[in-house]
Amino acid sequence: MRKRMIAGNWKMNETYSEGVVLAQGLAKELADGTGDVDVVVCPPAVDLKGVAEVIEHEDAPFALGAQNVYWEEKGAYTGETAPDMLTNIGATYCIIGHSERRGYFHETDEEINKKAKALMAHGIVPISCCGESLEVREAGKHVEFVVDQIKKDTEGLEITDPAKYVIAYEPIWAIGTGKTATADDAQEVIGAIRATLKEIFGDEVADGIRILYGGSAKPENIAGFLTKEDVDGALVGGASLKAESFAAMVKASM
Ligand code: 13P
Repeated sequence: MRKRMIAGNWKMNETYSEGVVLAQGLAKELADGTGDVDVVVCPPAVDLKGVAEVIEHEDAPFALGAQNVYWEEKGAYTGETAPDMLTNIGATYCIIGHSERRGYFHETDEEINKKAKALMAHGIVPISCCGESLEVREAGKHVEFVVDQIKKDTEGLEITDPAKYVIAYEPIWAIGTGKTATADDAQEVIGAIRATLKEIFGDEVADGIRILYGGSAKPENIAGFLTKEDVDGALVGGASLKAESFAAMVKASM
């Protein structure tokens, strides 16, 4: 049985002090615990330390995730963050391959694959994103496109514990647009992702890997996605920026 996961991607929102306040608010909202749901908060890099301190001081029931990483150990890579820097600060998850990074920063599947390997070598769980554009969807090629991303992004990964690798399917046309995929749309692609994982890693591992939906997920629609057999939770953008709405999504998943 896979544990559900609700992860918040703050993207480039919240200054350090605003991030601390948001994390404190979330700690308060979730003070009664999160049941069987794994909750992850992914603030901007400069907010990580502040949120880590809130988690520690408030004994908050959520884990810390970064939004990006570089695969080298250390050295002359101005502006980048090494995996070891993330573990040292208390991050246990890291988003990779988000469509905004693929689009604006030209990240390739090969780079995403290197990031996954570097994170896993340091015990950080990747939340690896995939998803098609509106153009690909309208051409009816979305399943094929996403399956190809999955094959490239997971190439050569050794996954023995399925809890240590998470996938988020985020159709680009549904991100920040208010236009959600239907639960059936999500299941169609996520089901195909799981079938691909079975081919690559075998049934046991593939059945244990969490696959999240992302794209205008909110308190009002989360329950619908969770009725689908292969959907294990959500990667939430906008609705993770308000403690009450993010907590409501966690509670709806319990
Ligand atoms: P929204 O929930 O704002 O659509 O963002 C989704 C997303 O990109 C999460 O990574």
